[in-house]
Amino acid sequence: MPKQDEQIQRKVEHLFLAEKFYDDNSMADFDSVRLLHNALPELSMEDIDLSTNFLGFNSSLPIYFNAITGGSKQSERFNGELAEIAKEFNIPVSSGSMGVYFRIPDTAPTFRILRKKNPAGFVIANISGKYNLEQAKQAVDLVDANALQIHINTLQELAMPEGDREFYWLDNISKIVNNIGVPVIIKEVGFGMTSNDMERLINIGVKNIDISGFGGTNFAEIESARNHEFDLTYLDNFALSTVESLLESSKIAESSVNILASGGIKAPLDVIKSLRLGASAVGISGLALHHLQKYSLEETKLFFEHFCQELEILMAAFGAKNILEIKKAPIVFDESLVSYMKQRNIDLSS
Ligand code: FNR
Repeated sequence: MPKQDEQIQRKVEHLFLAEKFYDDNSMADFDSVRLLHNALPELSMEDIDLSTNFLGFNSSLPIYFNAITGGSKQSERFNGELAEIAKEFNIPVSSGSMGVYFRIPDTAPTFRILRKKNPAGFVIANISGKYNLEQAKQAVDLVDANALQIHINTLQELAMPEGDREFYWLDNISKIVNNIGVPVIIKEVGFGMTSNDMERLINIGVKNIDISGFGGTNFAEIESARNHEFDLTYLDNFALSTVESLLESSKIAESSVNILASGGIKAPLDVIKSLRLGASAVGISGLALHHLQKYSLEETKLFFEHFCQELEILMAAFGAKNILEIKKAPIVFDESLVSYMKQRNIDLSS
């Protein structure tokens, strides 16, 4: 049997290890945030509108399928299924990193399936910060993308035995953001972001940031399982949870950046809390992949149907007819987050 290309093999291992380490519980600090219900909501469930403007696209729900995969046969199957569900729910769907396509153009169909299965939908291309403007354009063309994600994944690369050891990304990001002609999202991959990093991105023209915080898929754990030299699982200690990253984003003027949240979204209430904490939409990777790996496509669709029904129930519980209104729900933080906010100069009282 011919040996599989190393980069493609890595993608297969990521899928397998994400499932091996999958945990139904979220570690993203959502349990340390309480929203208080509205005893007098003065609304009918029929009034609830979960639609949101996602980078110009009228998305039916404030959720999107975040970057996962591409390159392998398995990837093609998962990308096809994600695109099919995204089409049915009218939500955006992202590709996994397209770096492998630049090396091995034969992998194109494993990405193109996203567009094939969802011809009129909102499809997002994905590359690493190490690629240049020309490559960014190729990635967008590959799936006729409506937007581009550029992932920044320092801790993951450091934990990867074959990972990058040079991290000069800002120049590429600046050139791409200012010239590519589609909206660009800069995203982490599950380690979160400080307001300092967000500001550096905004200063070079970035308008959309997915803070992708810690609490779900953990690449320190996944890459350490692949690394026969070091166990670098402890790198996750330096991560910011999704809630901490959203609190960080509150330091930045709302008008200067559009914040997307992901990382450890396991339940409808995690989505609602993320919206309350400033996200305009919420990304899901691990949860969707887990369902597709463990159950059938039909069962996964049913799971997300229930997920969306619960979102509506929660909106009513908090007296919110739409996404703007959920941002006004009264909120209470546990001591650990109060201490975090104090030390990081975060003031949510206004
Ligand atoms: C990812 N993620 C990811 N992100 C990215 O920008 N490019 C990529 O190629 C990948 N690849 C990838 C593979 C697998 C198997 C998983 C599960 C995830 C990261 C993903 O988009 C997200 O940022 C994190 O997974 C955190 O969200 P969840 O998984 O906790 O919902």
